[in-house]
Amino acid sequence: MSTIYHVNQPADFELVITDILRYHKESNASSLLLTLAGDLGAGKTTFTQQFGRLIGVSEPITSPTFTIMKQYEISHTYFDTMIHIDAYRFESEEEAGPLHLDELLAQTRTLICIEWPERIASFIPAQAIHIDISISEGEQRLVEVTYPGEGGRTV
Ligand SMILES: Nc1ncnc2c1ncn2[C@@H]1O[C@H](COP(=O)(O)OP(=O)(O)O)[C@@H](O)[C@H]1O
Ligand SMILES: [Mg+2]
Repeated sequence: MSTIYHVNQPADFELVITDILRYHKESNASSLLLTLAGDLGAGKTTFTQQFGRLIGVSEPITSPTFTIMKQYEISHTYFDTMIHIDAYRFESEEEAGPLHLDELLAQTRTLICIEWPERIASFIPAQAIHIDISISEGEQRLVEVTYPGEGGRTV
């Protein structure tokens, strides 16, 4: 089971993000991990940019395709740090070792967004929220959000 949203423009990701933030609040967890799946150009980076904007990231969020990881300090009710990872360039899971994902995941008050999670599937813990974005028609995107324990969904 998952929740489906029809998103007509990037700013409308806000509806999805508001629901995710509500879930996060109710979960009482310190950090939040989101995986973002979808083809090139689906809107994974755009989603992360919108999330960053809503939680107060002031710098421009650019795609970390070449740097693999980018980190932003923020001052938000739930988060001090936002980490944006793009695993697109990993050809094998071993390459992800230097990221020290386990240490990043253990950080408190941190939002972590991971694009191309399927490249590092074995590193993705069970508490991740899975987001799948696909292009439906023209500018419209279909966003499928699967919360931990909703089953049936792997990275
Ligand atoms: N409804 C929408 N939601 C998200 N992106 C959209 C939408 N409509 C158009 N776009 C455009 O699609 C592109 C998505 O690119 P990007 O976020 O970099 O994709 P990805 O990270 O999945 O490769 C951007 O140029 C964005 O402006
Ligand atoms: Mg991207």
